[in-house]
Amino acid sequence: MRLTGKIALVTGGTSGIGEGIARRFAAEGATVVLTGRRADLGQRIAREIGTATFVPGDLTSPDTRKALVAAVETLGGLDVLVNNAAAFGEAVTDQVTDDEFDRIVELNFRAAFLVTRDVVPYLIRKPGGRIVNISSSGVRRAWPGASVYNASKAALENLTQTWAHEYGPHGLTANAVTLPVVDAPMSLPAQPHVDLEAIPSRRIGTVTDVADLAVFLAGDESGYLNGARIPLDGGQTA
Ligand SMILES: NC(=O)c1ccc[n+]([C@@H]2O[C@H](COP(=O)([O-])OP(=O)(O)OC[C@H]3O[C@@H](n4cnc5c(N)ncnc54)[C@H](OP(=O)(O)O)[C@@H]3O)[C@@H](O)[C@H]2O)c1
Repeated sequence: MRLTGKIALVTGGTSGIGEGIARRFAAEGATVVLTGRRADLGQRIAREIGTATFVPGDLTSPDTRKALVAAVETLGGLDVLVNNAAAFGEAVTDQVTDDEFDRIVELNFRAAFLVTRDVVPYLIRKPGGRIVNISSSGVRRAWPGASVYNASKAALENLTQTWAHEYGPHGLTANAVTLPVVDAPMSLPAQPHVDLEAIPSRRIGTVTDVADLAVFLAGDESGYLNGARIPLDGGQTA
């Protein structure tokens, strides 16, 4: 029970990694706010967790972000923010439409920035605040067709470092988890093509691997780890 008494907001908690982190945080004693557009899923997950509130809506909408702040107010504060919600799209740069560019950047970069801006006053009310940003190994090693997605995650990793500087003096830490293909929905098409021989640990990562690290980053034991971008990749960057 490493998160007893903590209140955590997990964006994109209706499936995959966000759902896994939300469930695990609650199992470690946290009260969780989770978000997502699929209201049926979100409500069911929140019901199953018990100590959770689901805030439905598109995170790119100001109304959803207002509802998130209202949920935090109702719970009386916030200790942990996990910026997990993201959109993926594949097209080589000259095929990327304006709408596709906006869809990815507005969620992965703009909404993550604005949610953080809106809730950081709660995170720094007392020392121990935590921001965990879920990023992609495309930040360090690109591949064709993911220019907008990879650049949006690079922006998020850069924000991680700025937030460490801006709010570290208030006792907050901001860290990023940099993921290659993980056994979670966003990379379903890529998973069969992963070369396990190229992974020192000889397997792809799981939602449990990510949740394990997220619990550490959200908890009191990680207080001096700040502004880090951690490759959770079974040794692929080694
Ligand atoms: N899976 C991988 O291999 C992998 C690799 C590297 C990085 N990552 C990162 O890990 C995170 C989670 O990935 P995943 O595989 O778990 O993906 P996922 O299952 O597709 O989850 C994405 C989450 O984001 C939410 N979301 C998407 N668009 C939204 C919007 N406009 N407004 C509000 N919520 C929105 C989704 O909820 P709704 O659909 O209900 O809105 C869902 O809860 C992402 O940040 C991704 O970039 C994943």
